[in-house]
Amino acid sequence: MEPKVNLIPIHIMGKQYMVPDVLTVMKAMEYAGYQLTRGCGCRGGICGACGIAYRLPNSYKIEVGLACQAMVQPDMYLAVLPFYPNKRGVHDVENLGANVDTFKALYPEVFKCVSCNTCTKSCPMSIEVMDYINAAMRGDVRQAAELSFDCVMCGLCTSRCPAEISHANVAILARRLYGSQVVPRAEHLAKQVKQVKTGKFKEGLAKLKSADLTSLKELYKAREAEPDNAPDEWAPKSNDYL
Ligand code: FES
Repeated sequence: MEPKVNLIPIHIMGKQYMVPDVLTVMKAMEYAGYQLTRGCGCRGGICGACGIAYRLPNSYKIEVGLACQAMVQPDMYLAVLPFYPNKRGVHDVENLGANVDTFKALYPEVFKCVSCNTCTKSCPMSIEVMDYINAAMRGDVRQAAELSFDCVMCGLCTSRCPAEISHANVAILARRLYGSQVVPRAEHLAKQVKQVKTGKFKEGLAKLKSADLTSLKELYKAREAEPDNAPDEWAPKSNDYL
């Protein structure tokens, strides 16, 4: 027996469609005949390309979400926001300080934050957006970078912010400052880059490139690899790379 499909009405950009109630908004749009060439990327809640804004019946609230994650609901009234215009403070990270003055110069609107927390409430990644904006206001680059790490840049926080802050770009600045000026350099990486530059691996690579398929397979099988269930203590120590 065919499983019973329960159809519900939804309104996509003002037009009503009947769609199965088990679909995400993205799949419901395709079911309704839309071909998504914008507003669709990973389909897994990671790329941030599929923002939507919607209202539900008998609610005054504007809700936001990701089309590939949000489920359809009866009589939801929605529009897609595949791109939200964000301000970008153009900069050369090498010439900036990892401090509050940088945020003041490039994103002064950050200091207009009224702490309404709307950004946090609208984030589909459950990031503490207001907290990382507050960290930027204090010049705490490390905290701003760490709190914003999962940002997918959908722009939904900006779409709801009364202070018109471009949160995602403030977050990128914080992470660039953190990565370039706060985190200590990985010494083992610098050493390995030096070894590459001085030709340490040239001979081995040449051998690999000239090997036939059978020897390549044997080399692959004989390679050093951890078993799937390797205990933590098997994890490489930093000096394993030296
Ligand atoms: S398609 Fe990538 S987050 Fe939805």
